[in-house]
Amino acid sequence: MDALTLLKSRNSAARLCAPGPDDNALAEIFACASRAPDHGRLRPWRFLIVRGDALSALGELFADAAQQRDANASEANLQRCRQQPLRAPLILVVIACINEHPTIPPIEQQLSAGCAAHGALLAAEALGYAGIWRTGANASDQVVRCGLNLESYEEISGFLYLGTQDGKSKPLPELAQTDFMKEWR
Ligand SMILES: Cc1cc2nc3c(=O)[nH]c(=O)nc-3n(C[C@H](O)[C@H](O)[C@H](O)COP(=O)(O)O)c2cc1C
Repeated sequence: MDALTLLKSRNSAARLCAPGPDDNALAEIFACASRAPDHGRLRPWRFLIVRGDALSALGELFADAAQQRDANASEANLQRCRQQPLRAPLILVVIACINEHPTIPPIEQQLSAGCAAHGALLAAEALGYAGIWRTGANASDQVVRCGLNLESYEEISGFLYLGTQDGKSKPLPELAQTDFMKEWR
């Protein structure tokens, strides 16, 4: 698939099944992610790979976090949290590493991490996989941060759920470009 077709047709898939990207595919995904625009070459991002038994462990962490947020959380809700990571055969946790810099503010470092996430999603799709970027309460939760060993200067940009598409692609929205662009002057 050529680059423009890939960029125009990228489509998140919520329903994913095995197989997920293997190590060769992951190497390609990280190579593409690491071409994110990056002011000052700070490389303000890193990734955690979650697969196999680690997916259930992440589910336990999500359930612990939900219980800490709400001591009255129902068992059904906690069970949903446990199941969440099992919706994909592999998850990449995208972490923005935001360091103080005299001329490169945190927002630029966060944006670079977001571009790295987008690059990873595009690469996964180019390789024949599918995925979706998720955040939710877990992305900023202290229990989750702690369980994933984040440093104080790090933020979770997203959880990229990756795998093989299960079912049909959703229709892409039709957008009129005039809704979001116009000539200046
Ligand atoms: C930073 C960020 C966080 C997101 N978090 C969620 C999420 O927690 N749950 C969800 O269903 N979609 C989330 N989305 C949206 C999906 O990734 C996706 O963009 C959306 O389903 C629309 O699909 P499309 O990108 O194929 O148009 C998030 C997107 C971004 C950029």
